[in-house]
Amino acid sequence: MHPGVLHRRFLSDLSTSLFSFVLPLLPTSEELTIKEEVRTLIEKLIKTIEPSARLLSFGSSCNSFGLRNSDMDLVVLIDDPEAALDPSTFVAMIGDLLERETNFDVKPLPKARIPIIKLNLAASPGLPFGIACDIGIENRLAIENTRLLLTYATIDPARVRTLVLFLKVWAKRRRINSPYRGTLSSYGITLMVLFFLVHVKQPPVLPNLQRIAPIRPITEEEMMLEGRNVYFFDDVEMLRQEWSSINFESVGELLIDFFRYFSHDFQFNTMVLSLRAGPLTKESKGWTNDIDVGGLNEMARDRNRLCIEDPFEITYNVARTVTKDGLYTIRGEFMRATRILTQRPERAVLALAELCR
Ligand code: CTP
Ligand code: MG
Repeated sequence: MHPGVLHRRFLSDLSTSLFSFVLPLLPTSEELTIKEEVRTLIEKLIKTIEPSARLLSFGSSCNSFGLRNSDMDLVVLIDDPEAALDPSTFVAMIGDLLERETNFDVKPLPKARIPIIKLNLAASPGLPFGIACDIGIENRLAIENTRLLLTYATIDPARVRTLVLFLKVWAKRRRINSPYRGTLSSYGITLMVLFFLVHVKQPPVLPNLQRIAPIRPITEEEMMLEGRNVYFFDDVEMLRQEWSSINFESVGELLIDFFRYFSHDFQFNTMVLSLRAGPLTKESKGWTNDIDVGGLNEMARDRNRLCIEDPFEITYNVARTVTKDGLYTIRGEFMRATRILTQRPERAVLALAELCR
């Protein structure tokens, strides 16, 4: 058969295989129901300490990039400005309350740099692996960046969700999704995929939501949160009507190109990935040196090996956890993936299995 025909057949096979790969890894409706019940229960308890408090989900439970058994990220928002509770005290109080009133395994960390409560829910029929849950306080930026990710996913769910979900699984299986061990957070991986779809692909698969002007004028006050500009175009109905990408590449083609771009083209030593602004230089951001954040060990350092700008907190490098060895491993994985997909094995489904081995 002609090599071009074989190649096209492989690409269409790869796209179909990606959809079938991801589908059984999505959370079950039972899992989502239990998570929502847990959130409601904890919120009710927290309101007994502070009636104006609300408990919101963020992260993969609600950005549409959730996998089965993924952890639950929750945040307490206190709406009453008179409620003068500092996060450490609040964390300690919530910790005591949950220990008293529930049978969750509770671990409050009031003294951590960012005070949180860690919870573990035991396994049950609807939750065969239990759930790990982190509760933070007043992290409003996380709610906004979760909404940004969700809006991007909603524009083109078939391609965007499939790519992100597959790459999250790949990164976990290849062990490059461990910020505590010198590699990337899921959030960092997701930003890399969106950066690729907005700024690298020509024509782009997605518009830059932070650069689309609002339909009606909005005030400075509406735009700002904790001193950051958190504006993005979030009218999903309007986006569905007005935005149609003229990039028709299949999810399989996009995956191959994603790996190829980060194997050969992206300049890790000098460049910053910015979803907000496109590729930037490390020099222009002053991200050329590592910063010691106090402490004796290697981990007590914010690094600028791999630079991913947070969409709203633009002075914050989301990939600051990536060490020299971590980056070496990550780049090696991009190259391995490119090799596997371009050597074009007989069947795409086998290539995916090999990728995630
Ligand atoms: N977050 C952040 N800054 C980081 C890491 C995370 O603001 N450096 C926030 C983001 O709102 C992100 C959420 O924390 O959506 C959860 O991060 P993470 O656990 O990395 O991503 P998830 O999408 O929840 O992935 P997983 O399913 O692996 O938990
Ligand atoms: Mg999470």
